[in-house]
Amino acid sequence: MRLCLFGPPGSGKGTQGEKLSEEYGIPEVSTGDLLRAAVAAGSELGQKAQEAMSQGNLVADDVVVGMIRERLHEADAEPGFILDGFPRSFGQAEALQEMLAAEGKPLHRVIHLDVDREEIITRLMARKRADDNEATIRNRLEVYSSQTRPVLEYFKERDLLTTIQGVGEVDEIYANIKAAIA
Ligand code: AP5
Repeated sequence: MRLCLFGPPGSGKGTQGEKLSEEYGIPEVSTGDLLRAAVAAGSELGQKAQEAMSQGNLVADDVVVGMIRERLHEADAEPGFILDGFPRSFGQAEALQEMLAAEGKPLHRVIHLDVDREEIITRLMARKRADDNEATIRNRLEVYSSQTRPVLEYFKERDLLTTIQGVGEVDEIYANIKAAIA
């Protein structure tokens, strides 16, 4: 199974991705986690990403696409994967589709977790990750509306999109995701 979890910051992509990964035995691939690991390791890629991340802006497409290409070619991703937070721009969506089409391994579904702005701010202010401060959260939401949300149309046109209400009990949302991919 090749899935993509799509949604605004704090919509539960990581929470639901972890559960799916456990149940289906395929890796959750989060570009946010990969980037944070690169920053922590002090690699050249991490240094390039750090400024954008601390401000809540998107890291450059070529950096993120290169990182995903490498990760999806690792052995554990052979049977499938759950993308969390990628793609986030039209450029990333096209690069992903081209890469998977060339390998004859198309995406099965894109799950859009729909959560309103007030709920997101409440969740993220409670969590306190390094980029969970008010100014950065506001910018992440702005970047999501202007650069990422429009990409939903790309997947809708390709008949890959299912929107699921991302507010409520974690297990109830999970059951709705499973129903959508059954
Ligand atoms: P990233 O790490 O992907 O952050 P994000 O998209 O802002 O998402 P979050 O991890 O904050 O939220 P989530 O949707 O995973 O929700 P979660 O399950 O954690 O990206 C960080 C930065 O990296 C970006 O700003 C950008 O700079 C860069 N980046 C990443 N990918 C990139 C890309 N593709 N291109 C360019 N740049 C990229 O839940 C959030 C909280 O809510 C948790 O506390 C959780 O416990 C809680 N929660 C979850 N579900 C529920 C529920 N149903 N009810 C109540 N609380 C809930």
